[in-house]
Amino acid sequence: MKASRRTLLKGAAALAAPSFAGTAFAAPSRSPAGADDETYWREVAKAYDVKKDIINLENGYWGVMARPVAERYVENLKRINHDNSYYARRSYGDDYKTVIAQLAAALGAEDEEIALTRGATEALKGLIAGYNKLEPGDAVMYADLDYPEMIAMMDWRAAKSECEVVKVSIPEPSTHDGLIAFYKKALTDNPSVKLLLLTHISNRTGLAIPLKEIVAMARAKGVDCIVDAAHSWGQMDFSANDIGADFVGYNLHKWIGAPIGVGMIYIRKGRLDDISPDPGAPAYDMERVAGRIHTGTMDFAAALTLPAALKFHHDVGPALKAARFSYLRDLWAESSRELPGVEILTPSDPRLHAGITSFRLARKTTPEDNIAVSKRLLDEFNIFTVHRVGVAAGACVRVTPALYNTPDDVIALAKALKVMSA
Ligand SMILES: Cc1ncc(COP(=O)(O)O)c(C=O)c1O
Repeated sequence: MKASRRTLLKGAAALAAPSFAGTAFAAPSRSPAGADDETYWREVAKAYDVKKDIINLENGYWGVMARPVAERYVENLKRINHDNSYYARRSYGDDYKTVIAQLAAALGAEDEEIALTRGATEALKGLIAGYNKLEPGDAVMYADLDYPEMIAMMDWRAAKSECEVVKVSIPEPSTHDGLIAFYKKALTDNPSVKLLLLTHISNRTGLAIPLKEIVAMARAKGVDCIVDAAHSWGQMDFSANDIGADFVGYNLHKWIGAPIGVGMIYIRKGRLDDISPDPGAPAYDMERVAGRIHTGTMDFAAALTLPAALKFHHDVGPALKAARFSYLRDLWAESSRELPGVEILTPSDPRLHAGITSFRLARKTTPEDNIAVSKRLLDEFNIFTVHRVGVAAGACVRVTPALYNTPDDVIALAKALKVMSA
């Protein structure tokens, strides 16, 4: 693999580049042809040291680090443990700025628009708790496919601001235009809604909503959107401007492949005042995004490993990664869609899904049913998945491939579904 296909990362000087050659990652010598170039993907898969005795199709919990990233994390851990507060008090501040600069460049954001958090939860809690434009009598809106803890935060926000809560259920199946029309009607029917929670890719079904269009439509109606992008950046290829949202909570330990414990809060320039500071934030952070969610002491080593994670992400190729995830998803989901008794919960339209897609077997709508389906997949077919609940139409089983998965892995799932649906 070429050392880097893009030069998106700026300010890399303060941290040594991660080892990306030699034994760490034997890169293919030619450019990849695309999502189905197995020569290329076999080499990428070699960068992951993962359990091989099961077919793991539950990679939505978090994204394991590729070897060069894990190695850098271990180096950083040793360095922090050795240099201790002498490093943290004297040099971490500058290194943090370098990490932020690289992250902002990769996202197409400005340095002052982002801050690190320990995950998407922390970022979104800061945004929802801090949103200060609601008046008594206004309403907030969220959907069944949003994440349970963010739903709870929206309920809390509404109660605190003496607002109503409007809950909607996303239609199944959905279409691109249908989803925009659905949200447009929901906002038109509920003109008191002033704050809308949107989950870019649902952790429950994998549905990817037409975020940019919905954010723009909501803005035109005077509605602010807080976007849960825990599952999207890195699984899909986009920049901050591509989605156009003002308030976004990101996760970096899922699809960017950073160590567990790294996320990011994004507040578009000019909107900082609409999110009140975290009451626990120090005075020096009050005028900065970092002051909107005070994390306390973070895992320095994890933060310092972000450049290595971003480098791996860019060397594999963000667009190519996205294409690979969709390709692996299509291999099982589109071939299983025709099976009687199997519901595939994301549409075929490539705009409405990435790699994650859930399925439901006919009449199996309870959590217990889906725990049993997932267990059968493991016991009989050696395929690891996870059940998901909270979808209005019923529980389901989620399938999430990673870069180390092969076409054979997902074809094994398609074969299992054929047997199970028979
Ligand atoms: C849609 C969604 N939002 C938020 C989160 C929480 O992310 P984190 O674990 O980074 O706090 C998750 C985690 O799975 C998620 O799927």
